[in-house]
Amino acid sequence: MKLARLRSLPVAALAVAALLATAAPAAQATPEAVAAAPDIPLANVKAHLTQFQSIATANGGNRAHGRTGYKASVDYVKAKLDAAGYTTALQQFTYGGATGYNLIADWPGGDPNQVLMAGSHLDSVTSGAGINDNGSGSAAVLETALAVSRAQLAPDKHLRFAWWGAEELGLVGSKYYVNNLATTERSKLAGYLNFDMIGSPNPGYFVYDDDPVIEQTFKDYYAGLSIPTEIETEGDGRSDHAPFKNVGVPVGGLFSGADYTKTSAQAQKWGGTAGQAFDRCYHASCDTTANINDTALDRNSDAVAHAIWTLSAGTVTPPAGTVFSNAANVSVPDNGAAVTSSVAVTGRTGNAPSALKVGVDIKHTYRGDLVVDLLAPDGTAYRLKNSSSSDSADNVIATYTVNASAETANGTWKLQVRDVAAQDTGYIDSWQLTF
Ligand code: TRP
Ligand code: ZN
Ligand code: CA
Repeated sequence: MKLARLRSLPVAALAVAALLATAAPAAQATPEAVAAAPDIPLANVKAHLTQFQSIATANGGNRAHGRTGYKASVDYVKAKLDAAGYTTALQQFTYGGATGYNLIADWPGGDPNQVLMAGSHLDSVTSGAGINDNGSGSAAVLETALAVSRAQLAPDKHLRFAWWGAEELGLVGSKYYVNNLATTERSKLAGYLNFDMIGSPNPGYFVYDDDPVIEQTFKDYYAGLSIPTEIETEGDGRSDHAPFKNVGVPVGGLFSGADYTKTSAQAQKWGGTAGQAFDRCYHASCDTTANINDTALDRNSDAVAHAIWTLSAGTVTPPAGTVFSNAANVSVPDNGAAVTSSVAVTGRTGNAPSALKVGVDIKHTYRGDLVVDLLAPDGTAYRLKNSSSSDSADNVIATYTVNASAETANGTWKLQVRDVAAQDTGYIDSWQLTF
């Protein structure tokens, strides 16, 4: 929650933040501002988890597909959404001889041709109540949806929330939803955000390495808390974002870890116990309300709201317009030749905008080594960032604004990166142009 977070910020960090705020170099483009989202009350999220636990306890100990505990979970979430003004629908499917349900909730309003979705699986495995996997994601998405209602949010994009059935049996519910969505409806999906296990007891802070705008939105949130994140690597196809990604919908999400072991480096930056699984109760009977790290659940719930507010606004982050991106990694040789990553811009007329947004994500162990330019199709270079021997932070993750109105829009644009000092190295992770 906000107060606790502020109080825990070290004085030195506040001083540095104040310094940075006033010391932005005038010659360089400024990064995007971050839109405001409400604090999601941890107590409310935990109250939903308590309900999921009671439902499991009253229904043979689980909330699994085809069992009474699953349908009771759906009924609980649906009643909250109906009371808050959502248009809800149950989508039925059959799997393994049992009826399954997806719960879909639409928030009235917004552009019907730009739909932002957020979802989580609501089923557990049969061996337990599934409170971290995935009561945590289900409760955070529910409480964010309720916060949208409390704020009477009127976003540019249309908002849709989903709770999936039978994820544990192979993403059955989300596959069913995507397969039954007409092609025209699919093309309206501006993005799908997935939240599966976000309160792990020995937590990590993992961000899916997928759509760069969504990824950056989450990274910005954690950067604001000075919490380092890592790319989610525990398996790309392992949750409900996969069916969306497979049909070309931009996806992203958060994950606090399952059965993999936390390394000592991870324990150093995140706390918790090295040499132990992120969730020792993964798919086990001990995945109860005791199997939750409150701090991780609180931060991740706030991150859900941050992403929904930011990505649905349409005007702030990401800026309005077509995005052209290249997410292929390009390694930058140490103290060596410049390298480039290309983006082909097509379908535009006339010149590029006077406020062309250039999103840059370069991973590097000493960002001061790097000189970064945008190259227009005719080769004209626009300096985004100079080198600086005193700029010792990692990575260049920023959105620059370039006056590119003298350049023809269509053609091959390049991000050029040169490392001008020995020792530290890195790579272009992704970059994008927003016209
Ligand atoms: N529910 C997922 C599963 O049972 C949990 C999970 C494991 C996951 N690895 C992941 C979710 C990576 C997202 C990303 O497999
Ligand atoms: Zn699972
Ligand atoms: Ca170097």
